[in-house]
Amino acid sequence: MKIKERLKKFYDEYADFYDELEEPNEYLASETHFYIPFLKGKILDLGCGNGRHLKVIKRMGFYAVGLDISHKMLIASKIKDDLILGDAELLPLRSNSFDMVVCMFNTFGQFSDREKVVKEVRRVLKDNGTFVFTVFYDLNSDEFFLREFNGKKFWIYVHSFSLEEIYGLFEDWNIKVEFLDKDFVGVVATF
Ligand SMILES: C[S@@+](CC[C@H](N)C(=O)[O-])C[C@H]1O[C@@H](n2cnc3c(N)ncnc32)[C@H](O)[C@@H]1O
Repeated sequence: MKIKERLKKFYDEYADFYDELEEPNEYLASETHFYIPFLKGKILDLGCGNGRHLKVIKRMGFYAVGLDISHKMLIASKIKDDLILGDAELLPLRSNSFDMVVCMFNTFGQFSDREKVVKEVRRVLKDNGTFVFTVFYDLNSDEFFLREFNGKKFWIYVHSFSLEEIYGLFEDWNIKVEFLDKDFVGVVATF
């Protein structure tokens, strides 16, 4: 099974447990503090999962749309509107239509083709648009983690980044990287 299909299967099964097992987690508050100052205009939450960040952004009065590959995660969000089932590598969205894209909790590190995602993010962003994401930094990981819940075992793909890799992916962008923890960074990318 391909990485993407395996991840989708994992999140479809994990959806009912996500709140209980991931929220609150040690990174959530630092992520929220990190992106709030950059919120602007029409926002896309890429890989929004159960919408925990999308809800914060909407509560602040912004028009925001969430997109995720897992139908079950979207259902778990209990958000009624502005949700799209889709793949970050081929966004079913118009070009130049968002002012900001957020992508939280190392979701960017779970995409199989990150170069494709960067191109798609750039395509849907308007001029002066901003891409804000958080990723794991140089974790001592072999990219696959064993997750166990509800009596089942899943190997899931979790890529962590070096700074060189981040700068390489965003060669023609302006990049600002901030350490939110020793192994967790926030990135603001503009073009
Ligand atoms: C680690 S969770 C994070 C969810 C949310 N951003 C948060 O901070 O709670 C990763 C999410 O990305 C979604 N995802 C993984 N690959 C994707 C893809 N290619 N396109 C869209 N969503 C994807 C998963 O279904 C999952 O909901």
